[in-house]
Amino acid sequence: MTDINTAVRSPAKSARRSLPESPFLVAARGGRPARVPVWFMRQAGRSLPEYRALRAGTKMLAACFDPDLVCEITMQPVRRHGVDAAILFSDIVVPLVAAGVDLDIVAGTGPVVASPIRSAEAVAALPTLDAEQVEPVAQAVRLLTSALGDTALIGFAGAPFTLASYLVEGGPSRNHERTKALMYSDPATWHALLDRLADIAMTFLRAQLAAGVDAVQLFDSWAGALSLKDYREFVLPHSSKVLSGLADAGVPRIHFGVGTGHLLGAMREAGADVVGVDWRTPLDTAVSRLAAVPGFESGPVVQGNLDPAALFAGDEVVRREVARIISEGQAAQGHVFNLGHGVLPETDPDVLTKVVDLVHGSTR
Ligand code: CP3
Repeated sequence: MTDINTAVRSPAKSARRSLPESPFLVAARGGRPARVPVWFMRQAGRSLPEYRALRAGTKMLAACFDPDLVCEITMQPVRRHGVDAAILFSDIVVPLVAAGVDLDIVAGTGPVVASPIRSAEAVAALPTLDAEQVEPVAQAVRLLTSALGDTALIGFAGAPFTLASYLVEGGPSRNHERTKALMYSDPATWHALLDRLADIAMTFLRAQLAAGVDAVQLFDSWAGALSLKDYREFVLPHSSKVLSGLADAGVPRIHFGVGTGHLLGAMREAGADVVGVDWRTPLDTAVSRLAAVPGFESGPVVQGNLDPAALFAGDEVVRREVARIISEGQAAQGHVFNLGHGVLPETDPDVLTKVVDLVHGSTR
C-alpha cells in the first residue's frame, strides 16, 4: 500500500512514468536516440479542424479548466501527426486566472488584463497560487499519462518576464514600453513582481510534475526584447529561481524564447537542460554559444528551429529546410526537432505530418 504521507511529501517522483525508450526524453537528456524526435509548439490548436470543432462554443479559458477537454485536445496532434511528445493544452495565463487575476483570452488578440499592474500597491495585491486552484490541470495530466501510452508529456509555464509583460501592458504588446518603464524606473517593484510570478510559475509546474508530466518547458517568449545586460539584471535571477528550483524533479527542463540569439548562453545558465532556439539563429551557431557557458559537464542540448512560415513555401523548401536543420543539429549533444516558434493557425496540418515523417526518416 502506498504510504500517503510519502506520496504527499515527494509527489513529484511518485506519479511519474518511466519511459526509458522515449526518443524525446533520450535526446532531451543529451543522448542519441535511434531517430530524431520531433514535436511542435502550438501543435494543439487552430491548425487542426478537429480542434476547431471541439472548441466551438467553449471559451479558451473554460476549455483550459475542463480536464476531459484538455486531455482530448492534447491528444489530437499526437494521433494525427505521430509526434514524439504531447504538450499539455493550457495557456501561460492559466495559473494567473486560477489565482484570481481578472483576465480573459480574447480570440485573435490574446490575454487581456482588466486592471494592469503598474505600481508597488498593485504588485503587493497580486494573489499567490495554491496548487489546489490548478487541480483541473493536474487532473488533465493524470488522464493524459494513461491515454498517451509511451508518448512523453511536456508541461509548461510562462516565465516571469513574459507573464509580467502581459500584466503590466494589460495585453499583448509590440514594444513592451510600460513593462520596461516599470523595470527601469522602479527596480524594487519590478523585482517584487517577478519574484511573485516566479513563485506562481513554480507552483504551476510543481502541480504538473506531481501529476506526472515527463518534462517541462518555460516559455519566455518575449525576453528577446531585452539586451543581454538587462536580461541578466532584471530577468535571469527570477527565471533561475523557477528552473533551478525544479532541479530536484529530475525531468528535462526546456527554456525557450523568440529573438533570443543574444541571450542563449544566459538562458542556459538559468538552469536549462535544453535550450529552445528560434529560426533566426542556426543550431550550430547556437551550440557554440551554449558551449561557452561555464559550469556544465555535458554539451548543449537544443530544440528547434524550423521557421513556421517555411511550412507555407511548398514541398521542396520544407524538405530542404528539415535536412539543413537536422544537419546543423548534429553539432549538439542532443537535438529535439521543433519549429522556431508556434504553429501558425493557417498552417496546412498535412504539411506538419509530412515534417514528422521527414524528421523520422532522416539518416544522420
Ligand atoms: O503548444 C501547444 O500546443 C499547447 C498550447 C499552448 C497554448 N498557449 C494554447 C493557446 C501553449 C504552450 C501556450 C503558451 C502561450 N500562450 C504563450 C507562449 C508560447 C508562445 O507562443 O510564445 C503565450 C505568449 C501565450 C499567450 C497567448 N494565448 C496568445 C498570444 C494567444 C493567441 C491569441 C490568438 O487568438 O491569436 C493565446 C491564446 C491561445 N493559447 C490559443 C491557443 C490554442 C488560441 C485560442 C483559441 O484557440 O481560441
